[in-house]
Amino acid sequence: MGTREDMYGLFASVNKINLTDDQAGQSAEEGTHKKNISTSYDLQARMSRKGILWNWGYHDEQNAKEISTLIPGFLDYDTDGYSEELYFAALREVPFELGDYADKFVLEVGCGLGEGLNFLSRVVDAERMVGLDLSDEAVKRANASLGRTGLSYVQGDAENLPFEDGEVDVLVNIESAHNYPSLEKFLEEVSRVLKPGGYFTHVDLYTTQRHAFLKELQDKELGLEWLLDRDISAQVQAAIHGRLSPEGSFHKALREQRVGAIQRHMAKRVGPEAVGGSFAGYTDSGSTKLLKRMGVLPSQFMPPVDSYRLYVAKKI
Ligand SMILES: C[S@@+](CC[C@H](N)C(=O)[O-])C[C@H]1O[C@@H](n2cnc3c(N)ncnc32)[C@H](O)[C@@H]1O
Repeated sequence: MGTREDMYGLFASVNKINLTDDQAGQSAEEGTHKKNISTSYDLQARMSRKGILWNWGYHDEQNAKEISTLIPGFLDYDTDGYSEELYFAALREVPFELGDYADKFVLEVGCGLGEGLNFLSRVVDAERMVGLDLSDEAVKRANASLGRTGLSYVQGDAENLPFEDGEVDVLVNIESAHNYPSLEKFLEEVSRVLKPGGYFTHVDLYTTQRHAFLKELQDKELGLEWLLDRDISAQVQAAIHGRLSPEGSFHKALREQRVGAIQRHMAKRVGPEAVGGSFAGYTDSGSTKLLKRMGVLPSQFMPPVDSYRLYVAKKI
């Protein structure tokens, strides 16, 4: 590990993720897959500065307005607000009133650096909030920079949650589940840890095949009643366009970073794909195509995504 090429190799292997199929039962591969995922996010955590979220974002005027009303000046921080908007859109669909969280336990699975859950702690005043992530390094950073009474972060696996049966009121899951080898195991765990009457809110990127697979799982007796399946591709694409515009946060961050010309050149070409560029219709430049043909860049950095979706389910 260490060189840029190693890193691309790692991402390429991570992105052979099962967006197209379920791999339940392929346990040897599952272990390697999870190791690759945690190594990749450990690395990203070490390179990330405070305040960073790791999702493609969401933008809708009404959604943004509602946040600004609840949290005046929320854009005054060093953020474009799109990733937080995605969290808000997910929580907003949970049928509990935002003012009704005083006795609630909110668990986020796949919390990354913890900033999304920290943002939600400004939206609702929950009794307890815990973020869980596979990446030890992300969890360490989250606890160091954001942990406090009522908000903490733990290392763990979405497919084997370290919580008691029926402990959780609201389980939040943002752009993380496409990494899990078995979506079914995860949903079983969601159902196990939720209280009856508790809610699961989930957003993720989907291929058509993966979406059909989730539909099959929804027909299984997992103890979840599915309340919402919404295609939010347009709002996610709006955020990606905003971020990748010349005045957007992607290019602003590149201008501010002290990196060499070659690194900057590479980041400009590869970075947009990592923040959802292909999904929003951005295509490779001539030099990127050449670097891919030469094997310097992986031929496919991100998997082909057909839609970005928001689901809500209730524990029966
Ligand atoms: C794209 S990031 C999203 C992070 C965060 N939700 C956000 O929006 O900023 C995906 C996260 O899922 C985590 N993850 C992947 N596989 C996991 C697993 N099996 N259990 C728990 N977390 C996992 C990764 O470590 C990473 O932090």
